Amino acid sequence: MSDVLYPNHLGIIMDGNGRWAKERGLSRSMGHKAGADNLIKLLDYIYKNTSIKVVSLYAFSTENFKRDKKEVDYLMDLFVTLFNNKLGTIKKNNVKVVFSGRRENLPQKVLDSMDKTIKDTKNNTKGILNICLNYGGDYEIVDMTKIVAKQVLDGTLNLEDITKEVVSKNLYQDLPPLDFVIRTSGEKRISNFMIYQSSYAEYDFPKTYFPDFDSKCLEASLDNYRKRDRRFGNAK
Ligand code: IPE
Ligand code: IPE
Ligand code: MG
Repeated sequence: MSDVLYPNHLGIIMDGNGRWAKERGLSRSMGHKAGADNLIKLLDYIYKNTSIKVVSLYAFSTENFKRDKKEVDYLMDLFVTLFNNKLGTIKKNNVKVVFSGRRENLPQKVLDSMDKTIKDTKNNTKGILNICLNYGGDYEIVDMTKIVAKQVLDGTLNLEDITKEVVSKNLYQDLPPLDFVIRTSGEKRISNFMIYQSSYAEYDFPKTYFPDFDSKCLEASLDNYRKRDRRFGNAK
């Protein structure tokens, strides 16, 4: 494991649950259930078999509230089950779970299961799982701007002292930059996912729908990552 290059911070835009279900004549909700089951296996693989330290997952965007109430309600119930029960292996794997996104509009039962997960895992040290829920990269920047502006108005921060570090510290989570972002299902867009943190990320857009994106598919994406020439502006 040690001589293989892994990204330090991996982002996964888990897309294609609906199309996976449609192909099988199932409801969209069954696609989400299959996606959640796959996620547990994938995370177990990542934290046990790779040296990836931080995983950011796009679970629900601020825009996803536009979907039918039935689908949104199903997803909210799924999150509660996921956080209260199915993330048990993550907790055992010594992974700290944090959340990014706005709390407003989330049902109380989801907020409670999030809070319990944060509390249960806060002393874990092996890795970090950042779950983006009711998350929008644009809102994250708006919310960070309000916090920083308030500090300037309060007189606790000088305008000249606003640095990249200050910005980073006042985002939802103070995480290292994203090295690699995978979006499943073949869509080639990032749909408002961690736009600040992904400024120098590499991307992969495998065609596989998320419920079928297993550890072999992940390793294939990671092989693509290893072939990239990350220059960060340097001349070669
Ligand atoms: C991603 O799958 C899961 C969420 C957005 C919550 P989709 O539900 O977007 O699946 P497709 O894109 O319709 O196939
Ligand atoms: C992005 O997927 C959000 C998540 C994966 C949670 P969407 O399926 O909602 O994105 P669009 O609508 O295709 O851009
Ligand atoms: Mg989609």
